[in-house]
Amino acid sequence: MSEAAASEVEAVGRIWLTPAGVNLGPLDLIADGAARNYVLQIGANRFHGFVVRRGEAAFGYVDRCPHAGLPLAQTLDQYLTPDGGMIACSWHGAVFSIEDGACLGGPCAGARLTPWPVRVDGGRLLTA
Ligand code: FES
Repeated sequence: MSEAAASEVEAVGRIWLTPAGVNLGPLDLIADGAARNYVLQIGANRFHGFVVRRGEAAFGYVDRCPHAGLPLAQTLDQYLTPDGGMIACSWHGAVFSIEDGACLGGPCAGARLTPWPVRVDGGRLLTA
């Protein structure tokens, strides 16, 4: 997606927060050690985020790279480095900590991903 296309997406109602308690389905939709994209339609607006699973823990982030504002993955659900150890942006190679979203390398060192609070309750993933 070009930066112009990304701006167009924002113009049609992109939002960056979700209400608490939205049921995102079973945690098992995400393989352990992998990530998954989520798009929530909230009224006329859309939220784009992703969740990384590590065991029974889930780490959610807004799908927007702090470098140029683009969604991180150009291929569905491909948010991680090949070894699964970090989040990676597919555009210019920024890498981020899974645990806190801090940029650990690439063009936005010192920045961080915007957290998307999620929680696991009884095997289900919910917004927090
Ligand atoms: S948009 Fe993510 S590294 Fe440039």
